[in-house]
Amino acid sequence: MDSLLTAGAAFLVASVALGLLVYSFIAGVAPIPTTSKVKAKILGALSPDLEGNIFELGSGWGTLAYALAKRFPHCTVIAYEISPIPWFICKLRLALFPLPNVILRRADFHTASLEQAAAIVCFLFPGCMKKLGPKLEKELPPGALVVSHTWPIPGWLPEAVHQADDWHSSRIYEYVAPPWHLRHKTPTSDGPVATSPGAETDVVESE
Ligand SMILES: C[S@@+](CC[C@H](N)C(=O)[O-])C[C@H]1O[C@@H](n2cnc3c(N)ncnc32)[C@H](O)[C@@H]1O
Repeated sequence: MDSLLTAGAAFLVASVALGLLVYSFIAGVAPIPTTSKVKAKILGALSPDLEGNIFELGSGWGTLAYALAKRFPHCTVIAYEISPIPWFICKLRLALFPLPNVILRRADFHTASLEQAAAIVCFLFPGCMKKLGPKLEKELPPGALVVSHTWPIPGWLPEAVHQADDWHSSRIYEYVAPPWHLRHKTPTSDGPVATSPGAETDVVESE
């Protein structure tokens, strides 16, 4: 009986690990949660007067979705997650600790309409930011905010670049829509560097 239980547990752990691995490969990024220091910077980058829908693109285990929903109780947080295991854990978390202003969707956010967004929050990877830029340009309403953890949107000029006091010195890029064409700059890199030479010195030490 004991060995059956052990085998069952080993099978479960292996299945979860494999599921996470496969979906990290499909999504292009593992469900790494945002740390509390970066979370504080992201929340600080969003205006307390924000109203409407906050879209979280790739919500992982729900770390940021919970923080956003608590900080902005008058807003609706619409969280998209493609990977079934983090999505399920977040769903379970919402069932146990409900937050009325969180809508969790298991879907690819590339298929979602972002036309009703007041703000976009994401922590993704360079290739995805490249693909996301044109979608945001097409769909976001004027005045919408975009806050991206670590990765800038190639070709966009940030309104501000915040730096967290974590061991990566993570950067948080803050953008405001549009007119996008006035904010365009030639992309210099897909990496975690500012999208314009000026932006290097534009790091805002919020808090
Ligand atoms: C680095 S994690 C960030 C998790 C969470 N946002 C946080 O900051 O704590 C990125 C997440 O985005 C998800 N993801 C990547 N591409 C996606 C897509 N096209 N649609 C939905 N989720 C996606 C991944 O599965 C992963 O869980």
